[in-house]
Amino acid sequence: MEIRQLRENQASALQDKAGARRNDQQSQSLGLAIVTGAGSGIGAAIALQLAQDGYALGIIDLREAAAKEVAAVIQGRGGLASASAADVSNSIELGQAIDACVRSMGPLEVMVNNAGVLDGYFDVHDMDETIWRRVIDVNLTSVFIGSKKALEHMLPQSRGAIINMASVAGLNGTGGGAAYIAAKHGVVGITRQMAVRYGAMGIRVNSVCPGAIPTALREHSQAILGPDVPDMSHRGVAVNDDQVRALVPMGKRGDVSDIAQAVSFLASPAASYIQGHALVVDGGWRAK
Ligand SMILES: NC(=O)c1ccc[n+]([C@@H]2O[C@H](COP(=O)([O-])OP(=O)(O)OC[C@H]3O[C@@H](n4cnc5c(N)ncnc54)[C@H](O)[C@@H]3O)[C@@H](O)[C@H]2O)c1
Repeated sequence: MEIRQLRENQASALQDKAGARRNDQQSQSLGLAIVTGAGSGIGAAIALQLAQDGYALGIIDLREAAAKEVAAVIQGRGGLASASAADVSNSIELGQAIDACVRSMGPLEVMVNNAGVLDGYFDVHDMDETIWRRVIDVNLTSVFIGSKKALEHMLPQSRGAIINMASVAGLNGTGGGAAYIAAKHGVVGITRQMAVRYGAMGIRVNSVCPGAIPTALREHSQAILGPDVPDMSHRGVAVNDDQVRALVPMGKRGDVSDIAQAVSFLASPAASYIQGHALVVDGGWRAK
């Protein structure tokens, strides 16, 4: 369903054969961008946007069929893309997937550590330790693993941009349960540490903090974490229009394309002096 919407949104571009040829040429000139969690939602929109910008795309997701579907959309437009199944919290799986992308489509210019799961909105007193560890692994340790492997390729070339998906929950004490909020604060933190450490080596590192963006995050998180987390469809914030209006000064949810545009900007030369930034894209939620 989601992929069909993305396809429809980009239908005019799909039909533009001249544009597709142009895209193909650009793919080869801008190098490789890898996006984790790119089989769905925000990650899929980022992958499609970066392909349109002219990158070859490495699509990585736990759900292989979803990754393949997004790669096929890019290939259908004449772009270069490959799909790999990997769990971002597993350094061997993610490392092998990144290495394979670099071998076939490198050099690696952009690494987007985007994959994540919600935590069931548990508070500390009622959160199971196993859920805590899994949520920290998928949302935060994955950024360490993905960045470490990306740096292996970027440091020797003294060039690259790493963009990490945080959240308003990485800056505020709301928007998730204890583990999700801790993990997303950690994403903002590791982004700043890497920005300080690698800035002089030609690597730019930034994070993006989305607000309420309709995706299948709740459903996917539920499926990935299993029966130990409660039904998340009505838990947390911004679960209905009244809540969104009360929370977000602009009175509405954002769109996956709002986040994709922000990532596209941070990856581009237009952001060449932006380093260690947490770019909030939330309709004003954080401003309150
Ligand atoms: N949707 C929002 O409102 C919102 C707000 C703030 C931040 N975010 C963040 O944006 C990112 C993308 O979320 P989304 O809303 O697009 O959700 P989504 O569920 O649509 O996409 C997340 C993707 O990550 C994949 N994934 C999950 N765990 C994985 C793992 N261990 N290894 C590999 N892939 C894995 C899923 O299969 C899915 O395709 C997440 O980090 C999320 O925390 C989302």
